[in-house]
Amino acid sequence: MIATQTLHIEVKKTKQSRLPSVDWKKLGFGNILSDHMFVSDFADGQWKNPRIIPYGNFEISPANSALHYGQSIFEGMKAYRYSNGDIYLFRPLENYKRFNVSAERMAMANVPEELFMEGLTQLIRLDSNWVPKEEGHTLYIRPLLFATESHIGVKVSDSYSLMIMTSPVGMYYSQPIKVLVETKYTRAVPGGVGFTKTAGNYGRSHFPTRLALQKGYNQLIWTDGYEHKYLEESGTMNLMCVINDTLITPELHDTILAGITRDSVIHVAKDMGIKVEERKITVDELVDGHKKGTLQEIFGVGTAATIAPICLFGYKGKDYELPPINENNFGGRIKKELDKIRTGKVADKHGWMFKV
Ligand code: COI
Repeated sequence: MIATQTLHIEVKKTKQSRLPSVDWKKLGFGNILSDHMFVSDFADGQWKNPRIIPYGNFEISPANSALHYGQSIFEGMKAYRYSNGDIYLFRPLENYKRFNVSAERMAMANVPEELFMEGLTQLIRLDSNWVPKEEGHTLYIRPLLFATESHIGVKVSDSYSLMIMTSPVGMYYSQPIKVLVETKYTRAVPGGVGFTKTAGNYGRSHFPTRLALQKGYNQLIWTDGYEHKYLEESGTMNLMCVINDTLITPELHDTILAGITRDSVIHVAKDMGIKVEERKITVDELVDGHKKGTLQEIFGVGTAATIAPICLFGYKGKDYELPPINENNFGGRIKKELDKIRTGKVADKHGWMFKV
């Protein structure tokens, strides 16, 4: 079901917009939050009080169970401005569906489509001036769902808050990144929560990532938890590589997030006539491809990072430099095509764009 006008959302506007204070040349990622946020509460088995209010702090009980036991999930999506000024969301229903996949695995309240889509679209309309005009800049949208029960015993929370906030953003990575293949710590194991966007998946990655940063890398490539042999994800992104002109990406299973950018890149690559394989890839295959000269590219793909080229990977004490990166690489060409779709410069033949 697409958003309708049936849900009544109370709107309390900010008295003083923070827009005049934004330095659009120095957006970075996630530093600036827009004027308003959407909020709704779940209690007694029902969603209540959907409202748009000024973005700001709120009170929380020190016994809040999300803080103690981690019932907290989020999504990441983006709004784009077309050259005629219209604003579009990219595949928002996919984010909505994945939000509930995460909610179900974390035993949290399911979010109705109308609540999510109507809250989202009304918020973006109200804060439409926060959608950047500059090419390459977008409005990042962060839906969040967390337990609100104040209870120290370990149990599934009976109450939740849904919030949607937005942030005008520039590039996540401003240059190609160096990644370290992680062979000790594990992001996710079969039967776990690796396929969800739950807070703990990110919290657990900080320590190993910090160790990699201390060694001069920018990010990790996660490998499987049993043998540290198969590639999984890179940092907050899905991973793709090009070997012998074939785009290869780890096949989805429950340790890997089903990225919407990943899926879109696969579609666009196929549309461009590029051969795509979704399968298991070993680190040895990268090393071997590097030795033979058949490994052409590695890049990460995600909502925040879009397509982030990787210039070097470290593995077992050795660094492997990748061929020079330019916009005619597979990653660069696919990004250009995807950007054209997202900014309305070519026909949206997959029906991905959702007008706000
Ligand atoms: C996204 O790409 O939306 C992510 O989830 C990355 C985020 C943690 C910054």
